[in-house]
Amino acid sequence: MSENIESVLHEERVFNPPEAFAANARIDKARLAELHEKAEKDYEGFWGDLAREEIDWHKPFTRILDDSNAPHFEWFNDGELNVSYNCIDRHLETRGDKAAIIWESDEGDSLTITYKDLHDRVAQFANALKAQSIEKGDRVVIYMPMVPEAVVAMQACARIGAIHSVVFGGFSAEALRDRINDAGAKMVITADAGKRGGRTVPLKKQADTAMEHGCPSIEKMVVYRRAEGDVHMEDGRDVWWHDAIDGQSTECAPEIVDAEHPLFLLYTSGSTGKPKGVQHASAGYLLNAALTNKWVFDLHDDDVFWCTADVGWITGHTYIAYGPLAVGATQVMFEGVPTYPDGGRFWKVCQDHGVTVFYTAPTAIRALMKLGEDIPRNYDLSRLRLLGTVGEPINPEAWMWYHEVIGGGRCPIVDTWWQTETGAHMIAPIPGAEPTKPGSCTTALPGIMADVVDDDGNSVDPDHGGYLVIKKPWPSMLRTVWNNEARFRSSYWEKFDNKYYLAGDSARRDRDGYFWIMGRIDDVLSVSGHRLGTMEIESALVSHEKVAEAAVVGRPHDVKGEAVVAYVICKGDRPTGDEAEAMTKALRDWVTQEIGPIAKPDDIRFTEGLPKTRSGKIMRRLLRSIAKGEEITSDTSTLENEEIIPQLQGKA
Ligand code: PRX
Repeated sequence: MSENIESVLHEERVFNPPEAFAANARIDKARLAELHEKAEKDYEGFWGDLAREEIDWHKPFTRILDDSNAPHFEWFNDGELNVSYNCIDRHLETRGDKAAIIWESDEGDSLTITYKDLHDRVAQFANALKAQSIEKGDRVVIYMPMVPEAVVAMQACARIGAIHSVVFGGFSAEALRDRINDAGAKMVITADAGKRGGRTVPLKKQADTAMEHGCPSIEKMVVYRRAEGDVHMEDGRDVWWHDAIDGQSTECAPEIVDAEHPLFLLYTSGSTGKPKGVQHASAGYLLNAALTNKWVFDLHDDDVFWCTADVGWITGHTYIAYGPLAVGATQVMFEGVPTYPDGGRFWKVCQDHGVTVFYTAPTAIRALMKLGEDIPRNYDLSRLRLLGTVGEPINPEAWMWYHEVIGGGRCPIVDTWWQTETGAHMIAPIPGAEPTKPGSCTTALPGIMADVVDDDGNSVDPDHGGYLVIKKPWPSMLRTVWNNEARFRSSYWEKFDNKYYLAGDSARRDRDGYFWIMGRIDDVLSVSGHRLGTMEIESALVSHEKVAEAAVVGRPHDVKGEAVVAYVICKGDRPTGDEAEAMTKALRDWVTQEIGPIAKPDDIRFTEGLPKTRSGKIMRRLLRSIAKGEEITSDTSTLENEEIIPQLQGKA
């Protein structure tokens, strides 16, 4: 492990749970200690009891953890259930008229959907899916804007046992096509267009391009009408959402599935060019989704929860589409962006809908912090009682601003560490029971055996960096990488002989046992909280006809966390002046087309060579230092082409 894993952060502040908060919290100190103790003493019994309490089973399970096929761990695998039933139907008697989703559009209109309404919409759309010949086990790709129908579509798939794969609406046609083909999806559900920040995103057009570029498995496309523009509808393949549900019943018996039945795939970036289809299973995922909404977000019946993530990311799955519904909460779902029509939008939504628990990403906090305190002070944020963050380490300065300016000093902050692969929060404070420290995600949740270890798997001493691992399987863990068993094993399990789950992050624990996440150990960047593989961007760049070679690294960025820097070798002469400018634009557009605007390089630097070792390996560490503008002090004599450094630094 390289020296850069050694830890540098020093943060001494500690915030105890405010008394008023702790007094009403679901989990107090004593209960937390009890949960930890039970998990230590009787690991399976701990999860088994929780699974019986939190989930309505159609057929109860008798087995808790099955590790006979490790690292394909299975949970509760002789039990049967339906996830959509657990998120909707079981609340109808007691909460039928309660708001499930309060949706606010980009333009500012709002719509309240009760649990009863949600049931009817989901059942009706589930019947429509069946009428379009979608069956249990079929893969359905959802490429939708942030409208309630995105959640309806996900829940409808779960209701009939179809496996959804949501593709973020910001991904391009090419990225959509690759994900459709990897999943072998039979159907795409999309919208004519999406609305974001006053702009229209042509989703249907992009889905059409994906089809033109080859999606042989797709039989049907369902198109929700969100905008009023004209779109092409292909005869025999495309059907409008409103036509598909027309005449369908609002009753649809949930398909009962095995606990291990795949619930969804979600593609995420790894250290090679191709994204991984992370596959989750039904019962285990549902259990941790429900539990963490209670434990970490402390959701009570009268809370109004708002998670600002898009449903295209795991956060939008666990903390919009499934978790809050599983616990019968009321949540806000927002179509727009934090800065439209102005930088007060988030705070206005909080005020107007009486949000009590608010969950967002550090990048959004930093961007809004830059606009100044006066903006949030114009809004009544007094109903907020708990704040959360996710996606990347939060810098203590942003943490303090969030705490004081948004939370009025009274709201605990839950910094939640987890991943697409973990399904739900893993390391996060229990807000009524645990003190927090700005910049630390605190300690592992009960039943989550997280640790920081060295190359040999031994726990490291306090304040030393190492690999973040989880030492025991947990219910919402990924089950496999779709169609890629080898990658499942090599990415997560081989490093520690199938015993520990390798998260891919480096971390340290302080003397109180608190975790501090230091960053990825692989070539994965976090840009505005979105996970991007450097190799993925590199392969997009080299697929351009004029590019011979490319290397992509991150450099720190004060709002986005990391910015994308690309070093590019062109075929022919190195472009300079106007030619370089034109080429930069062409390549940024190209990456937007190949992956999506989120992956667009911030800087492109043309060079005649990349720093390589004598064995031909690109020295990324050196490139990262150069991208940051650091002086190169390390020994570069092992480089095959030391003379290239001044050019990379822009000095030649
Ligand atoms: O590096 C960690 C970072 O985000 C990665 C997971 O990315 P993704 O699967 O896209 O899921 C993001 C939303 C759960 C992790 O490996 N990360 C996530 N949360 C935190 C974090 N880094 C530091 N602190 C966090 N709270």
